[in-house]
Amino acid sequence: MAQEKGTAVPVLLSKAELLKQGAEARVYRAEFLGKPAIVKERFPKRYRHPVLDEKLTHRRTVQEVRSILRCRKAGISAPVVYFVDYTSHCIFLEEIVGSSTVRDHIASTQQSCKDQELERLAQQMGQILARMHDEDVIHGDLTTSNMLLRRGTEDEESDLVLIDFGLSYISALPEDKGVDLYVLEKAFLSTHPNTEALFQKLLKSYTASSKKSSAVIKKLDEVRLRGRKRSMVG
Ligand SMILES: Nc1ncnc2c1ncn2[C@@H]1O[C@H](COP(=O)(O)OP(=O)(O)OP(=O)(O)O)[C@@H](O)[C@H]1O
Ligand SMILES: [Mg+2]
Repeated sequence: MAQEKGTAVPVLLSKAELLKQGAEARVYRAEFLGKPAIVKERFPKRYRHPVLDEKLTHRRTVQEVRSILRCRKAGISAPVVYFVDYTSHCIFLEEIVGSSTVRDHIASTQQSCKDQELERLAQQMGQILARMHDEDVIHGDLTTSNMLLRRGTEDEESDLVLIDFGLSYISALPEDKGVDLYVLEKAFLSTHPNTEALFQKLLKSYTASSKKSSAVIKKLDEVRLRGRKRSMVG
């Protein structure tokens, strides 16, 4: 059947399974050339001026794809980008089949008191973030929901996969990396109760794995202090 130019993706999405409706994007499960895929669609926001909205949406789509490719080039796990449609602002990504978010994994592992398993996970998180920052990728929205655990085969370790790079950018500044870690620290400690020691393990592993960690950790300390001062004032 003949199809008008620009309608193929919307038609595909109308048949896809909606996984998550967020404030900025809808996430679907679909197939791309027979492979299980995740489609992230950034839809227009009516409260924004249409020209500004189009610009912001385009920029986030570009940033997401660019950072994923940069990570993958450096051997850092992130989903394969199958296809990008800049008309409907859709990114087609490899689905990490059978994965769970680190958030869900920590929550269930905490309940069953498997401390050793959590420590290994914190270590893996420190390592992958160190490698990402050494490539000068700043994630911009680090949370435990934006990391997936791909289950390994029996004797294999499960593998961490970074996702959701819409707010990412490239920077070599230790300050930007320190703020990235600060955002994660805030999210981590508020999502997962009593995990201060676990987050310290993550930072220790980050420090051991990154070539440039000392300047970053120094900045993290500064940013924390600034945050504390601000909360004392207001
Ligand atoms: N490649 C993938 N494979 C499997 N599951 C995924 C994949 N990408 C996303 N998901 C699932 O969909 C959820 C939402 O995806 P994502 O974090 O990219 O969108 P979002 O949080 O809505 O984005 P944004 O913060 O830009 O609004 C993830 O937490 C994860 O559960
Ligand atoms: Mg997310």
